[in-house]
Amino acid sequence: MTDVVLPIIDLDVFLAQDPDKLALLQECQKAADALITYGALLLHDSRVSEEDNDVFLDLMEDYFAQPEAELRKDERPELSYQIGVTLENTEKPKCAVHEPCLNIIARLDPSERPLDITQHSPDPKCRFFWKMSEKPPYETQFPGLNAPNVLPQAAELQERWTPIMQKWGQSMKNAVSDLAEMAAIGLGLPRDTFRNAGRYGPHILAPTASDLVKYGKKDNILAGFHTDLNFLTIHGRSRYPGLNIWARNTGKRIPVKFPATGRYLLVQAGKQLEHLSGGLIKAGYHEVVVNDATLQAVERRKAQAPERPLIRISSTFFWHLSSDYDLAPIPALQERAQQIRADAANLGKIDEDADATYEPMKVGQQVQNELRHIALMA
Ligand SMILES: [Fe+2]
Repeated sequence: MTDVVLPIIDLDVFLAQDPDKLALLQECQKAADALITYGALLLHDSRVSEEDNDVFLDLMEDYFAQPEAELRKDERPELSYQIGVTLENTEKPKCAVHEPCLNIIARLDPSERPLDITQHSPDPKCRFFWKMSEKPPYETQFPGLNAPNVLPQAAELQERWTPIMQKWGQSMKNAVSDLAEMAAIGLGLPRDTFRNAGRYGPHILAPTASDLVKYGKKDNILAGFHTDLNFLTIHGRSRYPGLNIWARNTGKRIPVKFPATGRYLLVQAGKQLEHLSGGLIKAGYHEVVVNDATLQAVERRKAQAPERPLIRISSTFFWHLSSDYDLAPIPALQERAQQIRADAANLGKIDEDADATYEPMKVGQQVQNELRHIALMA
């Protein structure tokens, strides 16, 4: 364990400044460097309201507290669960059977390793996917990844659902797409490179839910060690700690801690950003587990809100590139990636994934390949 503190990037600087101002450029540089070094950062955005996050977390707790038969009505396995609900024990962490990923774990110091996932049991987490995408003005080659949203069946939830999901989803989407623009500037690219590439992406507000009555035992894995398949993932504050991330360069497990108060979000790099940057930015590994801090939060919650369901909601949003976008490394970034790899080799460090290749393909193809690995698509 480590007390590494992730870099904090101030989105307010980006929103306030003229593009030529030094402060803006420095902040963008800091964002790009954080993604290269840690694959993650904390984002301060004063437009984000903690109250909206709370209202959203309450709605999710109420939704996932419903009986299983009720939840099943919102499942869409024929659409690879890319909208509606996914019940617990469906998604398997790909890493458990994926050799390069097992090698990454093996290279970590035993004290910094994730909890053991080699049993390859599916994750005991439920999830809801709510699309926050804009319909492309062209015929997409991947209509299945762009299907319309599912509304929950229960009348009481239906009433509250759309405005709350849209409000919180929009806050996260604004924050993450602005951060994507900051990262492009910081990487020396035209500022709208990522924003345009993701304009018609199947972005998803994707809360996950873990039943802490059933699974709230110390060292239970709620989501096994993995990376995300999309471009950037953004999280609001959860009511229960338990998310650990690994920084690319340090090999240390970092328990994610938000500053105690204030409007912060956590951003992590996903596979599409790794692919587009030719490995300059690596998708960040993470897991969600029950640790001592989780259990303390459970006790506090029981005391403060005994009537509420004990469910850990992760307030997650997946920002994607457009499905029809041609995914191939940007040459300038790929060159930098190779340079970094050469430097690491000269210093005698082992590069984690030296032979990773990034074949050109449509983003939709990349997503489908990944979904097969995690058992969500036949
Ligand atoms: Fe994840």
